[in-house]
Amino acid sequence: MGKIFALDNRLSTCAEFVREGTRVADIGTDHAYLPIWLAKKGIIQSAVAADIRPLPLKSGEENIKKYGCENIVSVRLSDGLDNISSNEADDIVIAGMGAELITSIIDRAEWLKSSDKNLILQPMTRAYVLRKYLLENGFDIVREKACVHSGKYYTVLQAVYSGNIKTADISYFYIGELKEEDELSKVYLHQILKKLRFRSQGGKHDGKDTHEIDFVIEEIIRRFGDYYNDES
Ligand SMILES: C[S@@+](CC[C@H](N)C(=O)[O-])C[C@H]1O[C@@H](n2cnc3c(N)ncnc32)[C@H](O)[C@@H]1O
Repeated sequence: MGKIFALDNRLSTCAEFVREGTRVADIGTDHAYLPIWLAKKGIIQSAVAADIRPLPLKSGEENIKKYGCENIVSVRLSDGLDNISSNEADDIVIAGMGAELITSIIDRAEWLKSSDKNLILQPMTRAYVLRKYLLENGFDIVREKACVHSGKYYTVLQAVYSGNIKTADISYFYIGELKEEDELSKVYLHQILKKLRFRSQGGKHDGKDTHEIDFVIEEIIRRFGDYYNDES
């Protein structure tokens, strides 16, 4: 099949961070759309499309055949990177999972601790957990970009191991490398702001100390504005 589908905004943002000519591992590939798209566009040398469950892997395999890229993309049953070796992948995509699962997958793959490896990470929830983990474990967050999927906003992070353990104030864990000039980042951070306000109000109601959350709220507003200028 010659014609190729378009990726949605979330996966196309992940694709933007993949380096040309690399070998890719897509962890939790499900339908394998991302590696198929990268292969069909001639961006990558090869890809392992990996999933922990046989059923998604089967649908991935069918799509790989459908789009005729078996010579570039292969499937692999694997819990995280457990069945993938360092010499098979330069760029590692872990998208569409919770931050805790992503950190546990990174934590188990010692070979990711190399400056040659490019991690592309797209957490569906609790991105701050992932940013904190990366900083505390010697990974630099090189770049970040917000994306939108079905009316919800997410972030895609690019991380590379440097071995430098860094500290940051708590607002960094919520904002990361998102930039003020990017419109999607503002909307993404407004979504975060709403959640933090809810937590702060709940905390105050329960008599808890909310000064850290309040500091993050102030910092987001100071840098990105109060996007809709309301409390909704
Ligand atoms: C919501 S889908 C995301 C698919 C695709 N990466 C995307 O972003 O559109 C999550 C996939 O991750 C797989 N998964 C969950 N835990 C995993 C693990 N520990 N190792 C590999 N795959 C995993 C699931 O089986 C599922 O197919």
